[in-house]
Amino acid sequence: MKKILKYASYIVIAIVLIVVAGISYITLALPNVGPPENIKVEATPQRIERGKYLANHVTACVDCHSTRDWTILAGPIKEETLGAGGEKFDANVGFPGSVYVPNITPYHLKNWTDGELFRAITTGVKKDGSAIFPIMPWESYSKMSREDVYSIIAYLRTLKPQRTDYPARQLDFPLNILVHTMPAKATLGTVPDQHDTLAYGAYLVQIAACKDCHSQANKGKIIEGLEFAGGHEYTSPNGGTIRSANITSDRETGIGSWTKEQFLSKFTQYADSTHKHQRIIPGEFQTIMPWYKYGKMKVSDLEAMYAYIKTIKPVKNRVNKFTPAEMRD
Ligand code: HEC
Ligand code: HEC
Repeated sequence: MKKILKYASYIVIAIVLIVVAGISYITLALPNVGPPENIKVEATPQRIERGKYLANHVTACVDCHSTRDWTILAGPIKEETLGAGGEKFDANVGFPGSVYVPNITPYHLKNWTDGELFRAITTGVKKDGSAIFPIMPWESYSKMSREDVYSIIAYLRTLKPQRTDYPARQLDFPLNILVHTMPAKATLGTVPDQHDTLAYGAYLVQIAACKDCHSQANKGKIIEGLEFAGGHEYTSPNGGTIRSANITSDRETGIGSWTKEQFLSKFTQYADSTHKHQRIIPGEFQTIMPWYKYGKMKVSDLEAMYAYIKTIKPVKNRVNKFTPAEMRD
Protein backbone atom coordinates (compact mmCIF):
# COMPACT_ATOMS: atom_id res chain seq x y z
CA MET A 1 0.00 0.00 0.00
CA LYS A 2 2.76 2.36 1.05
CA LYS A 3 4.63 1.54 -2.16
CA ILE A 4 1.61 2.30 -4.29
CA LEU A 5 1.19 5.63 -2.55
CA LYS A 6 4.82 6.39 -3.16
CA TYR A 7 4.52 5.64 -6.87
CA ALA A 8 1.30 7.62 -7.09
CA SER A 9 3.00 10.63 -5.55
CA TYR A 10 5.87 10.32 -8.08
CA ILE A 11 3.34 10.28 -10.88
CA VAL A 12 1.55 13.35 -9.50
CA ILE A 13 4.89 15.18 -9.17
CA ALA A 14 5.83 14.17 -12.72
CA ILE A 15 2.51 15.43 -14.09
CA VAL A 16 2.86 18.73 -12.23
CA LEU A 17 6.40 19.15 -13.61
CA ILE A 18 5.26 18.41 -17.16
CA VAL A 19 2.42 20.92 -16.87
CA VAL A 20 4.72 23.57 -15.37
CA ALA A 21 7.32 22.93 -18.08
CA GLY A 22 4.64 23.09 -20.78
CA ILE A 23 3.18 26.35 -19.50
CA SER A 24 6.66 27.85 -19.05
CA TYR A 25 7.57 26.89 -22.59
CA ILE A 26 4.36 28.40 -24.00
CA THR A 27 4.60 31.63 -22.03
CA LEU A 28 8.37 32.14 -22.32
CA ALA A 29 9.26 30.77 -25.76
CA LEU A 30 6.10 31.66 -27.71
CA PRO A 31 5.18 33.44 -29.89
CA ASN A 32 8.21 32.59 -32.04
CA VAL A 33 7.54 34.22 -35.39
CA GLY A 34 11.07 35.57 -35.44
CA PRO A 35 12.57 39.03 -34.92
CA PRO A 36 11.17 42.08 -36.70
CA GLU A 37 12.71 42.71 -40.11
CA ASN A 38 15.25 45.45 -40.51
CA ILE A 39 13.31 47.57 -43.00
CA LYS A 40 12.75 51.25 -43.66
CA VAL A 41 9.52 52.15 -45.42
CA GLU A 42 9.97 55.14 -47.66
CA ALA A 43 6.91 57.37 -47.31
CA THR A 44 6.18 58.17 -50.95
CA PRO A 45 2.96 60.09 -51.75
CA GLN A 46 1.69 57.02 -53.65
CA ARG A 47 2.17 54.80 -50.61
CA ILE A 48 0.52 57.27 -48.25
CA GLU A 49 -2.48 57.56 -50.56
CA ARG A 50 -2.82 53.80 -51.06
CA GLY A 51 -2.34 53.23 -47.32
CA LYS A 52 -5.01 55.77 -46.49
CA TYR A 53 -7.44 54.04 -48.82
CA LEU A 54 -6.68 50.57 -47.49
CA ALA A 55 -6.56 51.43 -43.77
CA ASN A 56 -9.82 53.35 -43.99
CA HIS A 57 -11.92 51.52 -46.53
CA VAL A 58 -10.58 48.02 -47.08
CA THR A 59 -8.60 46.62 -44.13
CA ALA A 60 -10.60 48.98 -41.89
CA CYS A 61 -7.79 49.46 -39.34
CA VAL A 62 -9.06 52.88 -38.35
CA ASP A 63 -12.62 51.65 -38.02
CA CYS A 64 -11.58 49.48 -35.08
CA HIS A 65 -8.81 51.76 -33.88
CA SER A 66 -11.10 54.78 -33.36
CA THR A 67 -14.20 55.23 -31.23
CA ARG A 68 -17.53 54.68 -32.95
CA ASP A 69 -20.78 56.50 -32.40
CA TRP A 70 -23.10 53.66 -31.46
CA THR A 71 -26.14 55.96 -31.21
CA ILE A 72 -26.22 55.95 -35.01
CA LEU A 73 -27.05 52.91 -37.14
CA ALA A 74 -23.82 51.15 -38.24
CA GLY A 75 -21.71 53.20 -35.80
CA PRO A 76 -19.71 55.66 -37.91
CA ILE A 77 -16.40 56.56 -36.28
CA LYS A 78 -16.01 59.82 -34.43
CA GLU A 79 -13.62 61.45 -36.89
CA GLU A 80 -11.85 63.41 -34.16
CA THR A 81 -10.72 60.09 -32.63
CA LEU A 82 -9.11 58.76 -35.84
CA GLY A 83 -6.55 56.14 -34.79
CA ALA A 84 -6.87 56.96 -31.09
CA GLY A 85 -8.32 53.54 -30.18
CA GLY A 86 -10.52 53.20 -27.10
CA GLU A 87 -13.23 50.66 -27.97
CA LYS A 88 -13.33 48.07 -25.18
CA PHE A 89 -13.96 44.32 -25.36
CA ASP A 90 -14.93 42.87 -21.98
CA ALA A 91 -17.59 40.83 -20.17
CA ASN A 92 -20.24 43.30 -21.33
CA VAL A 93 -19.79 42.02 -24.88
CA GLY A 94 -19.16 38.43 -23.76
CA PHE A 95 -15.36 38.66 -23.96
CA PRO A 96 -13.38 36.60 -21.40
CA GLY A 97 -11.13 39.41 -20.21
CA SER A 98 -10.68 43.06 -20.99
CA VAL A 99 -8.94 44.45 -24.08
CA TYR A 100 -8.83 48.06 -25.18
CA VAL A 101 -8.21 48.71 -28.85
CA PRO A 102 -4.87 50.55 -28.74
CA ASN A 103 -3.87 53.90 -30.15
CA ILE A 104 -2.15 53.55 -33.56
CA THR A 105 -1.28 57.21 -34.11
CA PRO A 106 2.36 58.38 -33.92
CA TYR A 107 1.78 59.32 -30.26
CA HIS A 108 1.78 55.59 -29.42
CA LEU A 109 3.78 54.15 -32.34
CA LYS A 110 6.61 56.69 -32.52
CA ASN A 111 9.12 54.28 -30.96
CA TRP A 112 8.04 51.34 -33.12
CA THR A 113 10.32 50.53 -36.05
CA ASP A 114 8.79 49.84 -39.46
CA GLY A 115 9.84 46.21 -39.01
CA GLU A 116 7.97 45.98 -35.71
CA LEU A 117 4.84 47.41 -37.31
CA PHE A 118 5.18 45.05 -40.25
CA ARG A 119 5.44 42.09 -37.88
CA ALA A 120 2.44 43.28 -35.81
CA ILE A 121 0.17 43.63 -38.84
CA THR A 122 1.15 40.39 -40.56
CA THR A 123 1.88 37.98 -37.69
CA GLY A 124 0.08 39.32 -34.62
CA VAL A 125 3.10 40.12 -32.44
CA LYS A 126 3.56 43.37 -30.49
CA LYS A 127 6.72 45.43 -30.17
CA ASP A 128 7.58 43.65 -26.89
CA GLY A 129 7.22 40.22 -28.53
CA SER A 130 3.87 39.35 -26.93
CA ALA A 131 0.82 38.20 -28.87
CA ILE A 132 -1.94 40.42 -30.27
CA PHE A 133 -5.26 38.82 -29.43
CA PRO A 134 -6.97 37.92 -32.72
CA ILE A 135 -9.86 40.33 -32.26
CA MET A 136 -7.58 42.09 -34.70
CA PRO A 137 -7.80 40.00 -37.88
CA TRP A 138 -4.04 39.84 -38.48
CA GLU A 139 -4.37 36.33 -39.88
CA SER A 140 -6.32 37.83 -42.79
CA TYR A 141 -3.64 40.53 -43.15
CA SER A 142 -0.88 37.90 -43.19
CA LYS A 143 -1.73 37.30 -46.85
CA MET A 144 -1.49 40.95 -47.87
CA SER A 145 1.16 42.00 -50.35
CA ARG A 146 4.33 43.44 -48.84
CA GLU A 147 3.82 46.67 -50.74
CA ASP A 148 0.28 47.10 -49.38
CA VAL A 149 1.53 46.62 -45.80
CA TYR A 150 4.26 49.20 -46.47
CA SER A 151 1.60 51.61 -47.70
CA ILE A 152 -0.42 51.16 -44.51
CA ILE A 153 2.69 51.75 -42.39
CA ALA A 154 3.51 54.91 -44.37
CA TYR A 155 -0.04 56.18 -43.84
CA LEU A 156 -0.16 55.41 -40.08
CA ARG A 157 2.91 57.60 -39.65
CA THR A 158 0.93 60.55 -41.08
CA LEU A 159 -1.99 60.30 -38.64
CA LYS A 160 -2.52 63.21 -36.29
CA PRO A 161 -1.02 62.17 -32.94
CA GLN A 162 -3.75 61.48 -30.39
CA ARG A 163 -2.79 61.51 -26.72
CA THR A 164 -4.64 58.46 -25.40
CA ASP A 165 -3.40 55.58 -23.24
CA TYR A 166 -5.33 52.57 -22.01
CA PRO A 167 -5.05 49.98 -19.23
CA ALA A 168 -3.09 46.83 -20.05
CA ARG A 169 -4.89 43.81 -21.44
CA GLN A 170 -6.37 41.20 -19.07
CA LEU A 171 -7.27 37.72 -20.35
CA ASP A 172 -8.99 35.06 -18.28
CA PHE A 173 -7.38 31.62 -17.80
CA PRO A 174 -6.73 29.64 -20.02
CA LEU A 175 -6.81 32.30 -22.77
CA ASN A 176 -3.95 34.16 -21.09
CA ILE A 177 -1.79 31.06 -21.78
CA LEU A 178 -3.28 30.06 -25.14
CA VAL A 179 -2.86 33.55 -26.61
CA HIS A 180 0.90 32.92 -26.76
CA THR A 181 0.34 30.07 -29.23
CA MET A 182 -1.76 32.12 -31.66
CA PRO A 183 0.65 34.27 -33.70
CA ALA A 184 1.89 32.64 -36.90
CA LYS A 185 4.44 33.43 -39.57
CA ALA A 186 3.01 35.41 -42.47
CA THR A 187 2.46 33.94 -45.92
CA LEU A 188 2.41 37.21 -47.84
CA GLY A 189 0.47 37.43 -51.09
CA THR A 190 0.61 39.56 -54.21
CA VAL A 191 -1.97 42.00 -55.54
CA PRO A 192 -3.55 40.34 -58.58
CA ASP A 193 -4.00 42.27 -61.81
CA GLN A 194 -7.19 44.34 -61.50
CA HIS A 195 -8.39 42.96 -64.85
CA ASP A 196 -8.42 39.51 -63.31
CA THR A 197 -11.61 40.48 -61.50
CA LEU A 198 -12.12 37.24 -59.60
CA ALA A 199 -8.59 37.00 -58.24
CA TYR A 200 -8.57 40.70 -57.44
CA GLY A 201 -11.95 40.43 -55.68
CA ALA A 202 -10.69 37.43 -53.69
CA TYR A 203 -7.66 39.46 -52.57
CA LEU A 204 -9.87 42.33 -51.39
CA VAL A 205 -12.27 40.01 -49.54
CA GLN A 206 -9.21 38.40 -47.90
CA ILE A 207 -7.60 41.62 -46.66
CA ALA A 208 -10.96 43.19 -45.71
CA ALA A 209 -11.38 40.26 -43.32
CA CYS A 210 -14.97 39.59 -44.42
CA LYS A 211 -14.57 35.90 -43.60
CA ASP A 212 -13.55 36.60 -39.98
CA CYS A 213 -16.94 38.06 -39.17
CA HIS A 214 -19.05 36.13 -41.65
CA SER A 215 -18.17 32.59 -40.53
CA GLN A 216 -19.05 30.76 -37.34
CA ALA A 217 -16.05 29.78 -35.29
CA ASN A 218 -15.33 27.34 -32.52
CA LYS A 219 -12.60 28.43 -30.07
CA GLY A 220 -11.42 31.01 -32.61
CA LYS A 221 -11.18 28.52 -35.51
CA ILE A 222 -13.56 28.95 -38.44
CA ILE A 223 -15.82 25.89 -38.74
CA GLU A 224 -14.99 24.12 -41.98
CA GLY A 225 -17.79 24.14 -44.52
CA LEU A 226 -19.41 27.22 -42.98
CA GLU A 227 -17.08 29.83 -44.49
CA PHE A 228 -19.06 33.01 -45.28
CA ALA A 229 -22.31 31.34 -44.21
CA GLY A 230 -22.86 33.87 -41.41
CA GLY A 231 -24.28 33.23 -37.97
CA HIS A 232 -21.24 34.47 -36.02
CA GLU A 233 -22.81 35.97 -32.89
CA TYR A 234 -21.91 39.31 -31.38
CA THR A 235 -23.31 41.19 -28.42
CA SER A 236 -24.76 44.30 -29.98
CA PRO A 237 -23.34 47.56 -28.68
CA ASN A 238 -26.98 48.59 -28.45
CA GLY A 239 -28.18 45.50 -26.54
CA GLY A 240 -29.28 42.09 -27.78
CA THR A 241 -27.48 39.68 -30.08
CA ILE A 242 -26.56 40.30 -33.69
CA ARG A 243 -25.42 37.66 -36.13
CA SER A 244 -23.44 38.16 -39.31
CA ALA A 245 -25.36 37.49 -42.51
CA ASN A 246 -24.94 34.50 -44.81
CA ILE A 247 -23.09 36.01 -47.80
CA THR A 248 -22.59 32.81 -49.74
CA SER A 249 -24.33 32.54 -53.09
CA ASP A 250 -27.16 30.43 -51.68
CA ARG A 251 -30.27 31.95 -53.25
CA GLU A 252 -32.59 31.34 -50.31
CA THR A 253 -30.51 31.99 -47.21
CA GLY A 254 -27.49 33.82 -48.68
CA ILE A 255 -27.14 36.65 -51.17
CA GLY A 256 -27.23 34.52 -54.31
CA SER A 257 -30.27 36.34 -55.65
CA TRP A 258 -28.82 39.84 -55.15
CA THR A 259 -28.03 41.79 -58.30
CA LYS A 260 -24.76 43.66 -58.57
CA GLU A 261 -26.70 46.92 -58.17
CA GLN A 262 -28.33 45.74 -54.95
CA PHE A 263 -24.97 44.70 -53.57
CA LEU A 264 -23.30 47.98 -54.52
CA SER A 265 -26.05 50.21 -53.17
CA LYS A 266 -26.07 48.33 -49.85
CA PHE A 267 -22.54 49.70 -49.38
CA THR A 268 -22.53 53.00 -51.26
CA GLN A 269 -25.70 54.31 -49.55
CA TYR A 270 -23.50 55.14 -46.55
CA ALA A 271 -21.08 57.14 -48.69
CA ASP A 272 -23.78 59.06 -50.55
CA SER A 273 -23.66 62.78 -49.72
CA THR A 274 -27.44 62.78 -49.18
CA HIS A 275 -27.19 59.96 -46.64
CA LYS A 276 -28.73 60.88 -43.29
CA HIS A 277 -27.44 59.31 -40.11
CA GLN A 278 -30.16 57.13 -38.63
CA ARG A 279 -30.40 57.57 -34.85
CA ILE A 280 -31.36 54.44 -32.97
CA ILE A 281 -32.95 54.05 -29.59
CA PRO A 282 -31.45 51.71 -26.94
CA GLY A 283 -32.32 48.07 -27.60
CA GLU A 284 -32.97 48.53 -31.31
CA PHE A 285 -31.09 46.72 -34.07
CA GLN A 286 -27.50 47.92 -34.43
CA THR A 287 -24.72 46.46 -36.57
CA ILE A 288 -20.97 46.23 -36.11
CA MET A 289 -20.35 45.73 -39.84
CA PRO A 290 -18.20 48.73 -40.82
CA TRP A 291 -20.65 49.89 -43.50
CA TYR A 292 -19.56 53.53 -43.38
CA LYS A 293 -15.90 52.76 -44.05
CA TYR A 294 -16.50 50.01 -46.63
CA GLY A 295 -19.12 52.25 -48.25
CA LYS A 296 -16.33 54.45 -49.57
CA MET A 297 -14.53 51.61 -51.27
CA LYS A 298 -13.98 52.28 -54.97
CA VAL A 299 -16.97 51.07 -56.96
CA SER A 300 -14.65 48.96 -59.12
CA ASP A 301 -13.34 47.29 -55.95
CA LEU A 302 -16.86 46.62 -54.68
CA GLU A 303 -17.70 45.14 -58.09
CA ALA A 304 -14.68 42.85 -57.91
CA MET A 305 -15.71 41.71 -54.41
CA TYR A 306 -19.23 41.04 -55.68
CA ALA A 307 -17.89 38.98 -58.59
CA TYR A 308 -15.77 36.91 -56.23
CA ILE A 309 -18.47 36.47 -53.58
CA LYS A 310 -20.81 35.15 -56.31
CA THR A 311 -18.38 32.26 -56.80
CA ILE A 312 -18.36 31.23 -53.14
CA LYS A 313 -19.94 27.83 -52.68
CA PRO A 314 -23.57 28.24 -51.60
CA VAL A 315 -24.21 27.12 -48.03
CA LYS A 316 -27.72 26.80 -46.71
CA ASN A 317 -27.81 28.50 -43.35
CA ARG A 318 -30.70 30.72 -42.38
CA VAL A 319 -29.55 33.46 -40.06
CA ASN A 320 -31.70 35.56 -37.80
CA LYS A 321 -29.63 38.75 -37.78
CA PHE A 322 -31.00 40.16 -34.52
CA THR A 323 -32.47 38.98 -31.23
CA PRO A 324 -33.35 41.83 -28.86
CA ALA A 325 -32.19 41.60 -25.26
CA GLU A 326 -34.72 39.93 -22.99
CA MET A 327 -37.14 42.42 -21.60
CA ARG A 328 -36.54 42.92 -17.90
CA ASP A 329 -39.12 44.29 -15.52
C1 HEC B 1 -11.55 44.27 -35.45
C2 HEC B 1 -10.71 45.27 -34.81
C3 HEC B 1 -9.34 45.58 -35.34
C4 HEC B 1 -8.95 45.80 -36.63
C5 HEC B 1 -9.79 45.77 -37.89
C6 HEC B 1 -7.54 46.12 -36.56
N1 HEC B 1 -7.08 46.06 -35.26
FE1 HEC B 1 -5.21 46.45 -34.61
N2 HEC B 1 -5.70 45.81 -32.76
C7 HEC B 1 -6.99 45.52 -32.33
C8 HEC B 1 -6.95 45.12 -30.95
C9 HEC B 1 -8.13 44.72 -30.09
C10 HEC B 1 -5.59 45.17 -30.55
C11 HEC B 1 -5.01 44.84 -29.17
C12 HEC B 1 -5.03 43.37 -28.95
C13 HEC B 1 -4.31 42.93 -27.70
O1 HEC B 1 -3.86 43.76 -26.91
O2 HEC B 1 -4.17 41.72 -27.55
C14 HEC B 1 -4.85 45.63 -31.73
C15 HEC B 1 -3.47 45.84 -31.74
C16 HEC B 1 -2.80 46.48 -32.77
C17 HEC B 1 -1.41 46.90 -32.70
C18 HEC B 1 -0.47 46.71 -31.52
C19 HEC B 1 -0.49 47.92 -30.65
C20 HEC B 1 0.20 47.77 -29.34
O3 HEC B 1 0.19 48.73 -28.55
O4 HEC B 1 0.74 46.70 -29.03
C21 HEC B 1 -1.14 47.52 -33.89
C22 HEC B 1 0.19 48.14 -34.31
C23 HEC B 1 -2.34 47.46 -34.70
N3 HEC B 1 -3.32 46.83 -33.98
C24 HEC B 1 -2.46 47.97 -35.97
C25 HEC B 1 -3.54 47.67 -36.82
C26 HEC B 1 -3.53 47.91 -38.26
C27 HEC B 1 -2.41 48.58 -39.03
C28 HEC B 1 -4.72 47.43 -38.74
C29 HEC B 1 -5.19 47.35 -40.18
C30 HEC B 1 -4.29 46.70 -41.14
C31 HEC B 1 -5.48 46.94 -37.60
N4 HEC B 1 -4.72 47.09 -36.46
C32 HEC B 1 -6.76 46.43 -37.65
C33 HEC B 1 -8.13 45.58 -33.10
C34 HEC B 1 -8.16 45.73 -34.49
C1 HEC C 1 -16.93 43.33 -37.86
C2 HEC C 1 -17.64 42.24 -38.47
C3 HEC C 1 -17.95 42.30 -39.95
C4 HEC C 1 -17.07 42.47 -40.99
C5 HEC C 1 -15.59 42.72 -40.93
C6 HEC C 1 -17.85 42.33 -42.20
N1 HEC C 1 -19.15 42.12 -41.90
FE1 HEC C 1 -20.69 41.99 -43.24
N2 HEC C 1 -22.03 41.90 -41.70
C7 HEC C 1 -21.72 41.80 -40.37
C8 HEC C 1 -22.93 41.68 -39.59
C9 HEC C 1 -23.01 41.54 -38.06
C10 HEC C 1 -24.01 41.71 -40.50
C11 HEC C 1 -25.50 41.62 -40.17
C12 HEC C 1 -26.04 42.95 -39.77
C13 HEC C 1 -26.13 43.88 -40.94
O1 HEC C 1 -26.86 43.60 -41.91
O2 HEC C 1 -25.43 44.91 -40.91
C14 HEC C 1 -23.40 41.89 -41.83
C15 HEC C 1 -24.11 42.00 -43.02
C16 HEC C 1 -23.55 41.99 -44.29
C17 HEC C 1 -24.31 42.03 -45.53
C18 HEC C 1 -25.83 42.15 -45.63
C19 HEC C 1 -26.42 40.83 -45.97
C20 HEC C 1 -27.90 40.78 -45.80
O3 HEC C 1 -28.44 39.69 -45.97
O4 HEC C 1 -28.53 41.82 -45.52
C21 HEC C 1 -23.41 41.96 -46.56
C22 HEC C 1 -23.71 41.96 -48.05
C23 HEC C 1 -22.10 41.88 -45.97
N3 HEC C 1 -22.22 41.92 -44.59
C24 HEC C 1 -20.94 41.75 -46.70
C25 HEC C 1 -19.65 41.88 -46.12
C26 HEC C 1 -18.44 41.96 -46.90
C27 HEC C 1 -18.32 41.83 -48.39
C28 HEC C 1 -17.41 42.16 -45.99
C29 HEC C 1 -15.95 42.40 -46.27
C30 HEC C 1 -15.68 43.52 -47.15
C31 HEC C 1 -18.00 42.19 -44.66
N4 HEC C 1 -19.36 42.00 -44.78
C32 HEC C 1 -17.29 42.37 -43.48
C33 HEC C 1 -20.46 41.84 -39.83
C34 HEC C 1 -19.27 42.07 -40.54
